Amino acid sequence: MLPNPSLRSAVATENVQITAAAGALVLARRVVVLTGAGMSAESGIPTFRDAGGIWSMFDPDEFATPRAFERDAGKVWRWYAERRRSMAGARPNAGHVALAALEARFAARGGSVTVVTQNIDGLHRAAGSRNVVAVHGDIHRTRCFDCRADGGEAGAHDASTVVPPRCPACGGRLRPDVVWFGEALPMAAVGRALRAIRACDVLVSVGTSGEVEPVASFPLRALEHRAVLIEINPAPTPLSAHADHVVRAGAATALPALVEACA
Ligand code: APR
Repeated sequence: MLPNPSLRSAVATENVQITAAAGALVLARRVVVLTGAGMSAESGIPTFRDAGGIWSMFDPDEFATPRAFERDAGKVWRWYAERRRSMAGARPNAGHVALAALEARFAARGGSVTVVTQNIDGLHRAAGSRNVVAVHGDIHRTRCFDCRADGGEAGAHDASTVVPPRCPACGGRLRPDVVWFGEALPMAAVGRALRAIRACDVLVSVGTSGEVEPVASFPLRALEHRAVLIEINPAPTPLSAHADHVVRAGAATALPALVEACA
């Protein structure tokens, strides 16, 4: 028995929320899971807009726009290299692992789970998810700022004395293969994401503040196609009012419980 009555009631509430959400998930054939930075919070990777988040310490205009790169490419390259290094010890948490298990289970019964992630950390694939659409790119990859050619693995350039490293194809400046503010998302990724969203029976939004378009509107596209919307987030977001089910908990506890409850 949990010692603290309010903790007991919080856990009881969470269990009710999980059971209700699992009732929708168990009937689904096609599921989309939309994830944001909160998905990786319990892997030790900071979110952007929570207290103490990345954008409370760094100005996105200085590090995460094409103009910032034009102004000081070396500074932007070094900042992303430092973020990559700080992620090096991060491992998939129980939430990532649960999503990979859910994908395998749905595939075995002729269904599908598509992870549409805003995260650039690669943890969904590291956990074993295969059907992953990384709509904001991948911090571990590079491409040329000038000719857009693939620049290969970012880590392969860590020993380069030239910062940012140069494009093997045109000699231009390599950049992280991520989407910056003011840039369009990769068309192929958005197309894949929207096809899955239009066809899904359930969309689970996990760990995103729903502040950044066009991804913030993706759950509403699913609702237009009569999907059930589940939100997993310890805090309310603009999406909460539209959700059929809300689980006010962290991804690493809620997702394993949800996946188990719909086994
Ligand atoms: N489990 C689930 N959700 C969590 C957890 C957790 N353990 N911890 C925090 N959260 C929630 C927060 O309540 C918040 O709603 O995760 C969300 C994180 O929001 P943001 O920091 O805004 O991250 P995100 O929504 O992914 O940002 C979208 O903005 O800066 C750009 O490109 C960046 O992809 C990013 C995009």
